[in-house]
Amino acid sequence: MSHQLVIVLDFGGQYNQLIARRVREQGVYCEVKPYTTPLADLKAMDPIGIVFTGGPDSVYLDGSPKVDPAIFTWGVPILGICYGCQLMAHLLGGKVVPAQQDAAREYGKTETGFDTECRLFRGLPQTGITWMSHGDYMERAPQGFALTARSAACPNAAIADESRGFYGVQFHPEVEHTQNGTDMIHNFLFEVCHAAGDWTMEDYKRTAVQALRDKIGDGRVLLALSGGVDSSVAAALLAEAVGEQLTCVFVDHGLLRKNEGDEVEAAFSERAVNFVRVDAQDRFLIRLAGVDEPERKRKIIGEEFIRVFEEEARKVGAVDYLAQGTIYPDVIESGAGDAAVIKSHHNVGGLPDCVEFKEIVEPLRLLFKDEVRRLGRELGLPGHLVDRQPFPGPGLAIRVIGDVTRDKLDILREADAIFREEMASAGEDRRLSQFFAALTNLRSVGVMGDGRTYDYALALRAVTTDDFMTADWARIPYELLDRVSVRLVNEVKGINRVFYDITSKPPATVEFE
Ligand code: XMP
Repeated sequence: MSHQLVIVLDFGGQYNQLIARRVREQGVYCEVKPYTTPLADLKAMDPIGIVFTGGPDSVYLDGSPKVDPAIFTWGVPILGICYGCQLMAHLLGGKVVPAQQDAAREYGKTETGFDTECRLFRGLPQTGITWMSHGDYMERAPQGFALTARSAACPNAAIADESRGFYGVQFHPEVEHTQNGTDMIHNFLFEVCHAAGDWTMEDYKRTAVQALRDKIGDGRVLLALSGGVDSSVAAALLAEAVGEQLTCVFVDHGLLRKNEGDEVEAAFSERAVNFVRVDAQDRFLIRLAGVDEPERKRKIIGEEFIRVFEEEARKVGAVDYLAQGTIYPDVIESGAGDAAVIKSHHNVGGLPDCVEFKEIVEPLRLLFKDEVRRLGRELGLPGHLVDRQPFPGPGLAIRVIGDVTRDKLDILREADAIFREEMASAGEDRRLSQFFAALTNLRSVGVMGDGRTYDYALALRAVTTDDFMTADWARIPYELLDRVSVRLVNEVKGINRVFYDITSKPPATVEFE
């Protein structure tokens, strides 16, 4: 690739992705690499700088993550964050110990003073809040290092050896709670590493297209297109790279939102690709008939999806490559943890064992979600595809609570479209992370005109969240709720009552099933 590279060396900290994002946001390309990556491999990548991340361990313990100390004689600038700072201190002859007093263990927002002569803090205010999270204490900085920031508990909240370009901070500049943290990262990149800020999406697109052409040659590629952001952008990128060698299989399971299938088809019909839209609505409805248990619904949809896809893949014939829309967070997180299964996510990503192909291509595996959206725009995909909110693989089936029928899906599709339309015209769509309607299986008595009704209650859900692991219900204006409610009961036959969900996650989840 033609642009400069920064390596984020991963010691297992919880904010590592955030560090990478902060670097890329400043137009500097970076990749996260495990701390076990051999030094020779790191050198071969020729980075302009390295960031050591935080991590849960203690540097003085045997078996805690370390690096080859020869990294310090290579001549490349290094920024150590939290564990990374302590590791640098430890390996260069400083002393890190468990904090003896509680006061020296710092967690949370901490008033910190900075030496603004230090290149890392140049141009910043002399005091500010930093986000600390460490139980170890650097008793002695290594030789050659100056103490460049301090808090009440820590005289060495930051250390620097400016002559070698080594900087360490005990706090986390990558998190929002650290005031001016982004500026500190900016200073490291531009003042210390002399970055050119040469990474643009246009450049990424060009190099990615070329790399795909080199790899695929005249081979054939198959992609399962769900209509979600990732698979749509992967399809557009592959279309640009290999055109008609690509076949996109779009399984329309009838669980999509209003007009969604047509929108996806329209976006790809103009491109020189083989686009196969499979109308599998009946199949899915038959398999879902009478099933009301959420996990069973999810499993059925996941299995049926693979079955339909395999059938279509067989019609396409032998393919060389199966393409997937895997994105960078999936790559960084893969293999991490084994948290309890709250919901089994059905993603098009986990496809299939039985299709024959030589290799998998994952053209987005180095991009974060917002970068995927930018790439999509660069490739000319329409805004309604690129900026779309997350939509679950099992689609509206998990927003129709209880058993799924065609009638219920039709009611929900209409209702959801009205809710989305009103949210968009009020500008709430730009502020909120996700919102949708769900059809409850509660029916209740109402009165309309002079007659009695016995219809469904619709639930509206709108949330704000950073990562969808936790979420807060959105405070949307009453007037807007009122407008939506009036339109829903008047325009959608089958609904006579509207609820707004005011639970956060946890204890609820974003979706109802
Ligand atoms: P929950 O309901 O688990 O949702 O709080 C968190 C986020 O994940 C989305 N979601 C899914 N996405 N396949 C997906 O690709 C799924 O099966 C699935 N289930 C939930 C949900 O829309 C929300 O954004």
